[in-house]
Amino acid sequence: MVSSEKTGVGILGLGKSLPEKVLTNSDLEKMVDTSDEWIVKRTGIQKRRLLEKNQPLYELGVDAANKAMADAGITAEEIDLVIVTTETPDYLAPSMACIIQGKIGAKNAAAFDLNAACSGFMYALTVAKQFIDTGFYKHILIVACEGLSRVVDWKDRATCVLFGDGAGAAVVGPVEQGYGIQAIEMGADGTMGHNITIPCLYMNEEDAAKREHENKNVIWMDGSEVFKFAVRTMAYASEKVIADSNLTLDDIKLIIPHQANSRIIEGAAKRLGVPESKVYINVQEYGNISSACIPIALNEAVEKGLVSKGDNIVLVGFGGGLTWASSMIRWSK
Ligand code: UT7
Repeated sequence: MVSSEKTGVGILGLGKSLPEKVLTNSDLEKMVDTSDEWIVKRTGIQKRRLLEKNQPLYELGVDAANKAMADAGITAEEIDLVIVTTETPDYLAPSMACIIQGKIGAKNAAAFDLNAACSGFMYALTVAKQFIDTGFYKHILIVACEGLSRVVDWKDRATCVLFGDGAGAAVVGPVEQGYGIQAIEMGADGTMGHNITIPCLYMNEEDAAKREHENKNVIWMDGSEVFKFAVRTMAYASEKVIADSNLTLDDIKLIIPHQANSRIIEGAAKRLGVPESKVYINVQEYGNISSACIPIALNEAVEKGLVSKGDNIVLVGFGGGLTWASSMIRWSK
């Protein structure tokens, strides 16, 4: 029974920000030994957006945050907490969350960064729900901002074709009972962490040896190990939150997965037994933007009218750590 009492927790507003600069597959053909055909066939990616050399990542975060607050109809002063998810902060200190809190004028908000790699937005959504459920906070701004182009080895064709930059933001807050987040699944397997690494201030010999070129502070990935983990985990994590919400796949309007590779998404959809028409894909436009993929895709899906009030949607992510997280949300707007 749905009542108008606001005891649910859901997404009140969304925003996204992508840099202007576009890097196409044919641009990459001039940089490394690759082809548009290989990239499209193996990943589905056609282009990605990149930050300019001297452009701070927080700029995208601020833009996405302002749009999300406008969409939610709340002011920066009403935000109680800013959580930024990123694996590529402009600074280690101050945190990206403090930088963005200051720039948007959320002067009543606490602020911290959360790094769960590509699962970051989903982890932050879970954290936000706990704070709101307990009544400790009312409005939480999550800003997922990622500048993967800064940690990519542009001479390594195995990784440089995959990633892009961008930001997505969401205001999380109270919604009508029966709407909002219905179930959550979240997990990690640190024993598999060596499969995706980005060294920062320390690096062991094994990780140094994996990097062929001069710049060692770059992303390295065992693509096929991550691929298998991703297909398995996305199917499991989606099924889990659907079952925990006492629903079946037929009740789900749309699944919005992390956008790493269209073949991973297709593999997970096949394993789940859902038609691809129920799965949102935009990896062709932006490549893999780590934790920003899901809020950007969700924002697009809402803008396109694919999600309306009362629809059940599943958000599901996986990534470095290795980590995974999912949520079943009954859309409340
Ligand atoms: O956000 C979470 C983190 N990341 C992921 O989820 C990524 C998961 N993994 C993947 O998406 C895929 O494994 C990749 C797209 C990274 C690679 O696709 P794959 O089908 O697993 O290819 P592969 O790594 O097995 O490589 C196949 C061949 C190799 O050549 P040989 O050894 O067969 O001669 C590679 O050297 O393709 C070659 N190759 C390329 N060729 C042209 C690798 N990268 C490229 C490239 N262009 N960019």
